[in-house]
Amino acid sequence: MKEQELMQKIVSLAKRRGFIFQGSEIYGGLAGTYDYGPLGVSLKKNIKDSWWRKFVENRTDMYGLDASILMSGMVWHASGHADGFVDPLVEDLVTGKRYRADHLLEDAGFEILGKTISEMNQIIQENNILSPEKNPLGEVRTFNMMLQTKMGAVEDSASHTFLRPETAQGIFVNFKNVVDSFSPKLPFGIGQIGKAFRNEITPRDFIFRLREFEQMEIEYFVYPEYWSQEFEYWKDEMLEWMQEIGLDMNHVHEVEISEEDRAHYSKRTIDFEFDYPFGRKELYGLAYRGDYDLSKHIEKSKQRLQILHPETNEWITPHVIEPTFGVDRTVLALLLSVYQEEEIDGESRVYLSFPSSMAPVKIAVSPLLRNKPDLVERAQEVFAKLKQEFGNVMWDDNGNIGKRYRRQDEIGTPYCVVVDFDTLENNEVTVRDRNTTKQERVSIQKLNTYFAEKFETK
Ligand code: GAP
Repeated sequence: MKEQELMQKIVSLAKRRGFIFQGSEIYGGLAGTYDYGPLGVSLKKNIKDSWWRKFVENRTDMYGLDASILMSGMVWHASGHADGFVDPLVEDLVTGKRYRADHLLEDAGFEILGKTISEMNQIIQENNILSPEKNPLGEVRTFNMMLQTKMGAVEDSASHTFLRPETAQGIFVNFKNVVDSFSPKLPFGIGQIGKAFRNEITPRDFIFRLREFEQMEIEYFVYPEYWSQEFEYWKDEMLEWMQEIGLDMNHVHEVEISEEDRAHYSKRTIDFEFDYPFGRKELYGLAYRGDYDLSKHIEKSKQRLQILHPETNEWITPHVIEPTFGVDRTVLALLLSVYQEEEIDGESRVYLSFPSSMAPVKIAVSPLLRNKPDLVERAQEVFAKLKQEFGNVMWDDNGNIGKRYRRQDEIGTPYCVVVDFDTLENNEVTVRDRNTTKQERVSIQKLNTYFAEKFETK
């Protein structure tokens, strides 16, 4: 299958089956925003729950946080985002449309890693690079990606702030609060999941480049001398989680980012890239931020964001390892990883081979025929029992049984349970496995333990 075709299939399936919709669709859409429908919410929740369990709840050295999206404008001046969080922008001189200069040059086949603004201008001039509409381009300049907003009824400079472009700063400004409340010893970390906003010049590629998206971030505070081994440790932890949630690891690549391409705060960065149909692009990042952020906030806030060294009794500013994960890019990479097409007995089918832990619906329950009250009644009993135990269980009596299987395959439901006439005699139901399409009879009494075991191992 062609890569572009695969992308179209994923986008169409995501809309048709209620995973992901264009934001503000009935008003023609709002660029860079997508809304998650019932199955998308469930998938996202499974991803976030798995991340939170592994990286926060199951550890003794991690603390959770949920900081405000709106923060004092001082935060963004201290962190360097007000000045340094920029992308290269270039304008079509005829239409006035704006583009990411680096993306245009990349699309034209130029290597732009590490190129400065003036080098990009030079490439455009020397090679007569035009806009996608084939018009001349203006000068490349920097564009700050933070989305500005105003707070309160008074119109003055103090009312201007930004929607956070990363969740990380919420963690740094709460460092002292967590230390004062819990007296943690180094190394320890603070984890947070939440929305972030960037005024991307050209949002594109479905949910890959959004203006509103969600991040899962850890700031892990370490003794400066141990940063390198902690970095390696977190690299492995990240890879382990990617595998756990079912990403196709053949499509995940580690890339060492060169000094000139690193963010302003980073002393070492690895990007985990993924083979999307539109190219190999960033999925997650792992950065060594040194003491950059805490030091900047100490300087600007005049607060002691430090920890007392237990041996020397001196105040030290911890260094930071930052594993960062985009939720939306995880959703996209996972959909691409689990999308399957196959032929069975001359019939083609599409299914999503989610691990059970990620599947938005765990089990679908159906009566073989929906116009037979005794079958429906029995199936409702089975449905209620499974729903109480496993939560995300769906009632499905639409169309014939073949259609129901296809529909459940397409949303990645691992098991379908069907109540038929034999059930009324022997209290057994048919359980159909999504991946193999094999069916087996299981007694209703044993259903809960049957599925509990299945879900434990997958
Ligand atoms: N605190 C560090 C930080 O924000 P980043 O590489 O700019 O680093 C972290 O962003 C992650 O957030 C990325 O690896 C990606 O998964 C996700 N992300 C960044 N920009 C995004 C966008 N415009 N749309 C969707 N996800 C995005």
